Amino acid sequence: MQIVLNSEELTRARAQLEGSVAFVPTMGALHAGHMELVAEARKRADKVAASIFVNPTQFGEREDYGRYPRREADDAAMLEQAGCDLLWMPAAGDIYPDGFSTTVSVAGVSERWEGEARSGHFDGVATVVAKLLLAVRPDIALFGEKDFQQLAVIRRMVADLNLPVDIVGIPTVREADGLALSSRNAYLSDDERGRAVALPNALQAARAGIVNGQSVGAALQQAKQSLVEAGFLKIDYFALVDAATLEPLEAAKGDMRLIAAAVIGTTRLIDNIAV
Ligand code: PAJ
Repeated sequence: MQIVLNSEELTRARAQLEGSVAFVPTMGALHAGHMELVAEARKRADKVAASIFVNPTQFGEREDYGRYPRREADDAAMLEQAGCDLLWMPAAGDIYPDGFSTTVSVAGVSERWEGEARSGHFDGVATVVAKLLLAVRPDIALFGEKDFQQLAVIRRMVADLNLPVDIVGIPTVREADGLALSSRNAYLSDDERGRAVALPNALQAARAGIVNGQSVGAALQQAKQSLVEAGFLKIDYFALVDAATLEPLEAAKGDMRLIAAAVIGTTRLIDNIAV
């Protein structure tokens, strides 16, 4: 696996990749969820490129940019082991040089939920993903359904800008008890980790309720109550939404998703499931 640290090296290394290229952008602190994207990338293209860049512009002022886990050496070893061909680890000044002034902003699908709870977050995500895609020029790029709204925002951006790349969504990889793998799970104490499973459990219970004819309002209310009982301090949202537009649904209709974000201790967790 070749490791490149700046855009000039990336351009040279990219030109040497023969055949189709699949790209997996990440912020590092890699876990089995990220590695599933890499495994799928290998199946779908001749070469696999990955990036590790903890993107400052997608973190709010009071968020965890400073303490976000950084483990580049372990990450690189995992990627090499998984058969990744090229790893790009740019510095912030390489992505955002002095005078950088452009923002990619996706209206509509980015506005609610994570967009509301984390003002500016999706502008940061869309801008960096556009830059990464334009630099790597992959045939396909893989993203996790774990960040379901992010995937919808990226699909919208790629369609709107006619970026020549196929976006592939990959199902969420979970721990044995159902907790979605996340780099942020590292922040959880043992006690919090034990209680965090209430989040996927609440999603499952709400889905079962809705599928069995319970009113959406009652199912969501019950799910939120179960999170409070498990010790979640703040529920940013727990909603049934249209899977394409992310607009809230008051009754079951078409392609749906249950999405949730809640805080346990000082850690904010998000999760979602298909209905
Ligand atoms: P990061 O949180 O590192 O995630 C990188 C990719 O891994 C994303 O597409 C994410 O959805 C996926 N992923 C994370 N946990 C997963 C899990 N348990 N199962 C399956 N896939 C999972 O998302 C980002 O980085 C950034 O916002 C980024 C897109 C790189 C832009 O900065």
